[in-house]
Amino acid sequence: MNGIVILISGRGSNMQAMVEAGLPVAAVISNRADAAGLGYAAGRGIATAIVPHRDYATREAFDAALAQVIDGFRPELVALAGFMRILTDGFVLRYEGRLLNIHPSLLPAFPGLDTHAKAINAGVKLHGCTVHFVTPQLDHGPIVIQAAVPVLPHDDEASLAARVLMQEHRIYPQAARWFLEEKLVIASGVVRVKGDHPQQLYAP
Ligand code: GRF
Repeated sequence: MNGIVILISGRGSNMQAMVEAGLPVAAVISNRADAAGLGYAAGRGIATAIVPHRDYATREAFDAALAQVIDGFRPELVALAGFMRILTDGFVLRYEGRLLNIHPSLLPAFPGLDTHAKAINAGVKLHGCTVHFVTPQLDHGPIVIQAAVPVLPHDDEASLAARVLMQEHRIYPQAARWFLEEKLVIASGVVRVKGDHPQQLYAP
């Protein structure tokens, strides 16, 4: 077993945060050849791979090819970090219990896209991000850690996204580290961390 395989589609700032936290990243895989994060990973001497989704006629075929590349790295953990593909149930179940995602909202509020605009439009006063185990239902699954930030009166989508992203970069490496240290216990869909580490933070 061999650390973390991180799946990205673009910028890769969460992937970068994991690398900079000193986590063992075995490989970074993207469905897009133009994902900016690939250059960063390669520059750090990390293996990279591209599995272009357009090369496959079905989601099943793409997910099978992706799984084959992932499994070649024999990871303990697979981390979705801005990976913009809906995964099939078969893929999700193959990695059950060792597939994490970061979502830019306080789940179960605001699943899906455009979470920061949804938060502003809903008038919520707290927003944030969630690291969760992936289950077949999109943006659901047992919650490992959440960070909350205030929504301020002058916020727009960009300012709120930036405030949330800073916290993403704190909680995703933390969650991955707990996983690799075998500290995460899931019971009845609820995650606890051995040793009573706080699973929430508030960044005013
Ligand atoms: C992050 O906001 C993450 O929560 C969401 O997609 C974005 C990816 O950003 N799933 P980056 O590629 O990690 O910079």
